[in-house]
Amino acid sequence: MLVVLKRDYSDLAREAASFIAKAVRANPSLRLGLATGTTMLGMYQELARRHQQEGLDFSRIVTFSLDEYLGLKSDHPRSFRRFMQENFFSRVNMDPRNIHFPDGTITDAYDEYCASYEQAIRAAGGIDLQVLGIGRNGHIGFNEPTSSLASRTRLKVLSPETLDDNRKFFGPGETVPRCAITMGIGTILESRRIILLATGLAKAGAIAAAIEGPVTASVTASALQLHPDVTFILDEEAASRLKQKEYYRQVLEMTAILVPSRLS
Ligand code: F6R
Repeated sequence: MLVVLKRDYSDLAREAASFIAKAVRANPSLRLGLATGTTMLGMYQELARRHQQEGLDFSRIVTFSLDEYLGLKSDHPRSFRRFMQENFFSRVNMDPRNIHFPDGTITDAYDEYCASYEQAIRAAGGIDLQVLGIGRNGHIGFNEPTSSLASRTRLKVLSPETLDDNRKFFGPGETVPRCAITMGIGTILESRRIILLATGLAKAGAIAAAIEGPVTASVTASALQLHPDVTFILDEEAASRLKQKEYYRQVLEMTAILVPSRLS
């Protein structure tokens, strides 16, 4: 596990974009797992800038999104599909055939549908690089506390804390979806590389638990400790409750000398 500490949000967004840009240049057919959410906005903006100004090419990139609300059509203003369309897909040269998203409109045969999403990931050759955010309760994707650490893509009921966090994105008359389809922890752990981004004080407790706490289904991001190639990209606020910050800085310095290819 590598912990990369950045001064503020714009440094964090640039670092994450550099990490992805480097992976895209190394493998133009990269299979990318993507998260939505406020944390990701700066990174998508920077990737779009690199596409427009530096010609970063997404034409052969294949994406699998982590999750989608159940009950929202793909063009619903609050759907994750729409978020991704507006903030990323429409701003780069993605081939629409390469974009994969859980379908939030299904109304039955959930297990079969979720198995087919897993099958699509497998058929594409698996995810090379998975990008994650983290919830205040330590969730990744919508793997809420007590999710099995071996879970696969499935329907998940959102926790009260997540519903609270999501409420701000919905208007006064709008119903906040109570369920989502999400890749599971087992699915996420099969990705070859993982980066997790976190910004702000609200995430500091979850980050400390995920990185320095025990591996537990109560903080599903802690399962990332079991993965051999995870990089946490944090700003100072999100890192503020980590006990070993000095050590992480030293590891980063040594990594830059010994294995520079590991860094963006
Ligand atoms: C969304 C997702 C979630 C978010 C997390 C943080 O696709 O997978 O786990 O990454 O809830 O959301 P923000 O960035 O809005 O704080």
